[in-house]
Amino acid sequence: MRARAGAPGYIRRMLNHQVRLAARPVGLPKRNDWSFTEEPVGEPPEGGFVVKTLMLSLDPAMRGWMNEGRSYIPPVGIGEVMRAGGVGVVIASKSPAFPIGTHVSAGLGVQEYRVFTSGKGVERIELSIAPLEKWLNALGMPGMTAYFGLLDVGQPKPGETVVVSGAAGAVGQTVGQVAKLKGCRVVGIAGGAAKCDFVVKELGFDACIDYRAGEVREGLKQHCPSGVDVYFDNVGGEILDTVLTRLNKKARVVICGAISQYNSTTAVKGPANYLSLLVNRARMEGIVVFDYADRYPEGIAQLAAWMKEGKFVSREDVVDGLEHFPEALLKLFSGENFGKLVLRVAS
Ligand SMILES: NC(=O)c1ccc[n+]([C@@H]2O[C@H](COP(=O)([O-])OP(=O)(O)OC[C@H]3O[C@@H](n4cnc5c(N)ncnc54)[C@H](OP(=O)(O)O)[C@@H]3O)[C@@H](O)[C@H]2O)c1
Repeated sequence: MRARAGAPGYIRRMLNHQVRLAARPVGLPKRNDWSFTEEPVGEPPEGGFVVKTLMLSLDPAMRGWMNEGRSYIPPVGIGEVMRAGGVGVVIASKSPAFPIGTHVSAGLGVQEYRVFTSGKGVERIELSIAPLEKWLNALGMPGMTAYFGLLDVGQPKPGETVVVSGAAGAVGQTVGQVAKLKGCRVVGIAGGAAKCDFVVKELGFDACIDYRAGEVREGLKQHCPSGVDVYFDNVGGEILDTVLTRLNKKARVVICGAISQYNSTTAVKGPANYLSLLVNRARMEGIVVFDYADRYPEGIAQLAAWMKEGKFVSREDVVDGLEHFPEALLKLFSGENFGKLVLRVAS
């Protein structure tokens, strides 16, 4: 029975539906790698509050969090609620800082509600600046990855050529648009004609190479006649290896992700052409977005300003229903997502 809002103890009696990690997947995650549970939401403690999940961010990194082993954050334990960033609204509160009705962004997990004991790690978001889904895209973690990864690690200069893979995706769309705003020539790499059209016609990239339709090497020769100064790598594997052959002197390769390798059941394929770094006195450097947490307000302010001025667009792909989480996540690895993949849990 659904508890009635406003009745004493109603939050405690409301049910929280959750998706938990049931097994460590081999290759692509299967439906039985997950379990579906429910438990009472519970009351917030003094100083705490309850957030109702509205939307969750589905990220390629989730695949890595499902594996055993050392990474930049610990893996999700078997039986634990799957880790996920999300946006939601405070529905019960014993915290003056987070009154009922406040919209927030936080690690909510793949579940309908989360009880917070304090405001640590919870950020307020303003829907007057941008709608909910933008706070999971350009104004959220992918946007911050793109903004700081490109500007801090890639250090593009006006007139330089920037290449970005996963160009129609969450991180890639922001990387390319910021690089254009900084006066660079920008070439995307994406899968399929529809995504390439979007990247050029709607995001304003100079060109886009459809890696599913032909040789990336030929595309780079055609669209980057003066070579590549910055390569922002979202995919790894063969595409990274190919771009390495086109680097200019002192080029910067930003290692953001390697989605082509995340479900591999054999060893990760490293770049065979790495000596291009030596020949070109180039460098390759990783980025982890969380290192920039102190500077997120700066990135959010700039991207929101560009959005307001009509200089920047962001596209999201919204899937409905917590129960569809397992299949929705797979869209990232098949390339079916068109823009930042978001799961709407409630409205
Ligand atoms: N380092 C960090 O702090 C950080 C933070 C956020 C994200 N990331 C990384 O950034 C990358 C992009 O993440 P995102 O959230 O923006 O995802 P996304 O680009 O929105 O979605 C993933 C896209 O990857 C492409 N893809 C999938 N399999 C591929 C393959 N085998 N070869 C080439 N492309 C493939 C697909 O696009 P196509 O249809 O174009 O193939 C798919 O749509 C990921 O590697 C992610 O792990 C890193």
